[in-house]
Amino acid sequence: SHNNLTGELPPVLGTYGIGSGLVSLHMEGNRFHGQIPERWHLLVSTRQINLSHNDLSGVVPKFFEQLDKLEQLDLSYNNLEGAVPASGIFTHSAAVVLDGNKGLCSNSPRLALPICPGISGSATKVKHHLSLLVTSLLIVLPPLTIGSLVLIWFMLTIWKKGSFPFSRWDLVSKMFPNRREVHTAPCHDEKKLKRVSYEDIVKATNWFSLVHTISSTCTGSVYVGRFKSDKSLVAIKVFKLNEPGGYDSYLIECEVLRSTRHRNIMRPVTLCSTLDSQNHEFKALIFELMVNGSLEAWLHSEQHNGIPDKVLGFGQRICIAADVASALDYAHNELTPPLIHCDLKPNNVLLDDDMTARLSDFGSAKFLSPGLVIPKSLDDVGGTIGYVAPAEYGMGCEISVAGDVYSFGVLLLELLTGKRPTDDMFVDGLSLCKFCESMFPDRVAEILDPHMAHEEHQGCTEAWMQRYIVPLVALGLSCTMESTKDRPGMKDVCAKLSDIRASFLELS
Ligand SMILES: *[C@@H]1O[C@H](CO)[C@@H](O)[C@H](O)[C@H]1NC(C)=O
Repeated sequence: SHNNLTGELPPVLGTYGIGSGLVSLHMEGNRFHGQIPERWHLLVSTRQINLSHNDLSGVVPKFFEQLDKLEQLDLSYNNLEGAVPASGIFTHSAAVVLDGNKGLCSNSPRLALPICPGISGSATKVKHHLSLLVTSLLIVLPPLTIGSLVLIWFMLTIWKKGSFPFSRWDLVSKMFPNRREVHTAPCHDEKKLKRVSYEDIVKATNWFSLVHTISSTCTGSVYVGRFKSDKSLVAIKVFKLNEPGGYDSYLIECEVLRSTRHRNIMRPVTLCSTLDSQNHEFKALIFELMVNGSLEAWLHSEQHNGIPDKVLGFGQRICIAADVASALDYAHNELTPPLIHCDLKPNNVLLDDDMTARLSDFGSAKFLSPGLVIPKSLDDVGGTIGYVAPAEYGMGCEISVAGDVYSFGVLLLELLTGKRPTDDMFVDGLSLCKFCESMFPDRVAEILDPHMAHEEHQGCTEAWMQRYIVPLVALGLSCTMESTKDRPGMKDVCAKLSDIRASFLELS
């Protein structure tokens, strides 16, 4: 704010808003011109927007009505014009400042703006347009009908003779490229779900534009978008079917969709299985958008700008750990056959608007069957260095639930210390687990994430250490034991964490 910045407002800010939970945006007192970008409808977590004292023109966009979190909108002293939207934030006159825009009007008395010109005038205009339309239709329709009848007759004749360059099916599929469904995937529940078409997805993601991209891996890319029939934003995962593992990860995610139902597990709400505009197979799953992004972004927000712009409190960390443990306990112990995630890490833990954690990305998951062997290379497991038990990959061990338990232990230690297992300090045989072990139990206070300790005042007391921190670190260390036999099952881990969470919530 208050500089001499010029140019148009950058549409891409809309997308950053989602990933980073952009809370307030102050661009007032500059020389920005042009319109307010439509892309900013993505600023779903933003509370304050101040664009006053610029040279913005055009109308006040309607999407502001739908930004539920928005509490203050200052668009004063610009050149905005036209009718101001009437619902959403615009029903609170104190929340919206529109002074100093000469061209604005409103039909609602709340905003104290001039009434928009002539409803009756516009009604006669509509009538005039209508009669013009009817007249032109009367002139244009007859020749058009005759013309198309002749064309259809012509096509039918040569088609029957077989001299048409395409087969009939080719012709149909060329005319309607996306109408043909390919039923190769055993996604049994597909039929029960509402479907979206390829065109819907193209529109919602603006042709898969970079601005809409949230993340991209070797098996698929995730976009944010809004379907025109729907008010809420969604995350759209498009699978890279040509890449190794791309198709398999689609199939396993479908299988997870079919067989799971748990509050801490991400399930798709819709899917799209069709052909794209070039007649290639196209598969996408559509998820509810998790407004608070990934745990990774919360734990390591300082990586991008030096100081962390969001910090998880200790209570939030306990709740997240308990949520993830509950999802894994369900997958391991309540499903038959058990489901193993195989790629647990903070990137795959998503947080919804009330910070409930949901386990996502089951693209590498496996349903346990006897003799299922870990492939020789880490690439084939799909796991991530630092979160996969060192002794278990590359050795042809059997895949087992204990692998997930190990990854969970690392995640728990990362939640407490704020350190990645791949942190630069872990060299020469030192690892996150060995580091925590060496400080346990007397010096655990020193390994805590400094940002968290700073925020939580109880962090200093010895009783608090003994009651929560020591048991949590102990739990993390037991999950990361080298031998799979020494690790606890997720049922016990989940029970312990629920107890710790309950006692924490009781006392705070
Ligand atoms: C927006 O910025 C202007 C200029 O600094 C300030 O006067 C105004 O109070 C701000 N509006 C809000 C809603 O904070």
